[in-house]
Amino acid sequence: MNIPLVDLKANYHSIKNEIDNAIQDVLDNSSFIMGPYVKKFEEDFARFCQVKHGIGCANGTAAIHLALLAAGVKKDDEVLTVPNTFIATTECISYVGGKIKFVDVVPQTALIDIEALEKAITRKTKALIVVDLYGQMPDMQRIREIAVKHDLFVIEDAAQAHAAEWNGHQPGFYGDIACFSFFPAKNLGCYGDGGAVITNYDELAEKLRLYVNHGRTTKYEHIIEGYNYRLDASQAAILDVKLAHLQNWTELRRQHARFYDKNLPSKVGRIIEAKGAKHVYYMYEIRTQQRDLLMAYLKQQGIECGIHYPIPLHLQQAYASLGFKKGQFSVSEQLAQEIVSIPLYPELTAEQRQYIVDHIQTFVHQR
Ligand SMILES: Cc1ncc(COP(=O)(O)O)c(C=O)c1O
Repeated sequence: MNIPLVDLKANYHSIKNEIDNAIQDVLDNSSFIMGPYVKKFEEDFARFCQVKHGIGCANGTAAIHLALLAAGVKKDDEVLTVPNTFIATTECISYVGGKIKFVDVVPQTALIDIEALEKAITRKTKALIVVDLYGQMPDMQRIREIAVKHDLFVIEDAAQAHAAEWNGHQPGFYGDIACFSFFPAKNLGCYGDGGAVITNYDELAEKLRLYVNHGRTTKYEHIIEGYNYRLDASQAAILDVKLAHLQNWTELRRQHARFYDKNLPSKVGRIIEAKGAKHVYYMYEIRTQQRDLLMAYLKQQGIECGIHYPIPLHLQQAYASLGFKKGQFSVSEQLAQEIVSIPLYPELTAEQRQYIVDHIQTFVHQR
C-alpha cells in the first residue's frame, strides 16, 4: 500500500465535475482579476467564518503582512509569537520593521504558553500573532482578556485552522484579524497560491481592502501605496466550490483523528485536543524519541510522514543575527525533535488508517 501524507489527487477526483465546471465558467466569462468570483467567495467565506468581512489575498503570507499593516505595527514595535511555526509568521513581522519576540508553547497542545505570554509583554509590545498550529486554537478567550488588558492587537494565524473553534467560535471572533492560507494542502486549499484575511471591524476591513490592491479607491485613484496582493478569480471560483464541502471534510478529519486517538499504541505520545477546542487536524501529530527509525520503517511500508517543523524558528539561520540561544524555548525545541505528522485527510480509507495504526503498533512492539 502507498499512502501519501496528503492526497490532493483523491480530493480533486472526489469533486472533479464541480471544479472543472467552475474553472470553465471563469474562462468563459474571462473575468480573471477581482470581479464577481472574488466577491462571491469573499462573502461566502466571511459567512462561513461568521464574521462581517472577508478579503481574499494572494497567499497566507500576504494575509499576515496585510494584518500587520492594518494593525499599524511599525519599526521596533514588538510582536509576540511562537517559535514552532512556519517562517511566514515571523517574516511578516520583519516586513513591517517589527521586532520578533518569541513565547514558548505548552507540550500538550504545542500551542502558545499563555502564562509565558503575559510575562513577555512589555511597553513596546504592540501585537500578538497567535498560531493555530496543526488546526487547533488555544484558549482565545484568555488571550483576548490579556490583549485587552495590555492594549495589544491580536492577529490569528489560522493558516492551518479553517473551521476550527474555541468555545464554539472560529478564528476571527476573538482576534482583531484572522489570516488564512489556501495553499493546496491546507484543509481549504486552492490550485495554486491563495489566502484571506477576515475581521469584524469595518475600519480594519477598509484598510485591508486598500492594502491588498494598490491603495486603490477607484481604477485610477490611489490614496495610499499598497500592494498587488489580490486573490486570483480562478482560485476564488475553485475555493467557493470547495468551501461547500469543508464542513463535511472537517468531520471526516475528526473521525480519522478519533480512530487514531483510540487505536494508536499508548507508547507513542500525542498532541491532544484541549477541552474547549475543536481541532480540525490539518496535521495529526504523534511524538517519539525514535523518530528517524519510525519514519524510515513507515516509509518502507509505503507510509509517508512529515515533520512540522524540524527546526524551531529561533534556531533558524535566518534569525542568527537576532541572538536567540539553544535552550531558550525548550518545549519548542523538544517538540521539533520528536514530532511526526502521519497521514490524515478526508479521503483516507478505513483500510488505510488501519494499515497505518498496525504498522506503528508493529514498530512499537519491536522496540
Ligand atoms: C502557520 C502558517 N502560517 C503561514 C503560512 C503561509 O501561508 P502561504 O504558504 O499561503 O503563504 C502557512 C502555510 O504554509 C502556515 O502553515
